[in-house]
Amino acid sequence: MSPTLRSDRLLLTRYTEADEERFVAFFADERVSRWMGDGPQPEAADRSLFWRIFPIYEQRRFDVWAVWWGDRYVGHAELKPTETVNGHELIYALSPEVWGQGLGTELTETLVQYGFEQLRLTEVHATVAAPNTASLALLGKLGFVPVRDIANAAGPTTRVLTRSRPARPEPQWRLEELAHAGPEHLDPEFVAGFDRKQGHPDPAVEISALRAAGVGPAATVVDFGAGTGQFAIPAAREFARVIAVDVAEPMLERLQERASGEGLTNLECVPAGFLSYEHAGSPVDAVFTRHALHQLPDFWKTIALQRIAGLLRPGGVLRLRDLIYDFLPAEAEPVFRSWFDGAATDPAQGYTAEDYATHIRTEHSTFRWLFEPMLTQAGFEILTAEYEGRCFGSYTCRLHPGWAANRS
Ligand SMILES: C[S@@+](CC[C@H](N)C(=O)[O-])C[C@H]1O[C@@H](n2cnc3c(N)ncnc32)[C@H](O)[C@@H]1O
Repeated sequence: MSPTLRSDRLLLTRYTEADEERFVAFFADERVSRWMGDGPQPEAADRSLFWRIFPIYEQRRFDVWAVWWGDRYVGHAELKPTETVNGHELIYALSPEVWGQGLGTELTETLVQYGFEQLRLTEVHATVAAPNTASLALLGKLGFVPVRDIANAAGPTTRVLTRSRPARPEPQWRLEELAHAGPEHLDPEFVAGFDRKQGHPDPAVEISALRAAGVGPAATVVDFGAGTGQFAIPAAREFARVIAVDVAEPMLERLQERASGEGLTNLECVPAGFLSYEHAGSPVDAVFTRHALHQLPDFWKTIALQRIAGLLRPGGVLRLRDLIYDFLPAEAEPVFRSWFDGAATDPAQGYTAEDYATHIRTEHSTFRWLFEPMLTQAGFEILTAEYEGRCFGSYTCRLHPGWAANRS
């Protein structure tokens, strides 16, 4: 959180301990603190406020920045979830010495774009005291719309303003995910027999891998290509919120039925794909995907990985397992031959040699030595890579903490 952000003239950075005196001096100026929080405070309160910033960084609670113009400290900014607005609220102040030069507009726009693009917020809110007409005018100019007033017994009315993220037009060149989903996944009869055919890979292995990478019980986890919920259901018992995404309605129906049967209220089913899922709200802690990404050709895999990176908080975790080829092109023939030798003979009980051949012919498994650079390019650091035979790879990856900043 709080990656370094830049606008034309401003630089937003995390505070360091060396900033204490400039922070305290800034808030001691009543023209600054007049409209902030509870208004001007004694110096000791400002000092204690400063030292509360660092636990916020450590616990990744929300974003707080020092605002610089060249090497001058000129302001303070936050983007934080609050109950008052039931969403993310933008808070900032600039030093009076730099007022009147358009820096408020520049700073607000930078924070709003960060909220929309990096945090994937659908709305950014601001609260402004009704007599603060300068701020109201600036926010109005930037597309914030007043949505309600909150009366205060002890002071002026607070006005809540909201700016919504513009809907993105569907690019006409986007791959039709349903056409690449594997026709069997859209067939209710196949879906009814899916669990028997695929078997029951132990979800504990995946959950422990996520835990080992620091994904805790409070986490939000997105499962792409969730299928019948073999991971999503056990994950919903372990993590605070699980979002199961799949393009195939029959798969999601089955998953939803099982989740309702178990009374899981923290599992949401979303009919969408790697390329079309739109996430509302704060960035997620982890993404899981198993045996699904190979449905996409390589160009689209990289776009999908980039979209996954866009969903994750900096430092967030991707756990991925897929059919990935860990060999050189010249080895294809013997590797596939031995793969087929180990295949099931009954198509109801497992994947047969014919199923594998169809997979190779019609789906888009790629080579390990092509896939790993795709992960790196999308901003991931590979923490673990394990291969089962020469055709199945499992990865635990962490989104580079500086990735959000690099993208902007
Ligand atoms: C082999 S199943 C794996 C299901 C589940 N991940 C598991 O391991 O039990 C592949 C799943 O990916 C889904 N899928 C295919 N293309 C997709 C896409 N572009 N976006 C999201 N899901 C997709 C299919 O509908 C199917 O449910």
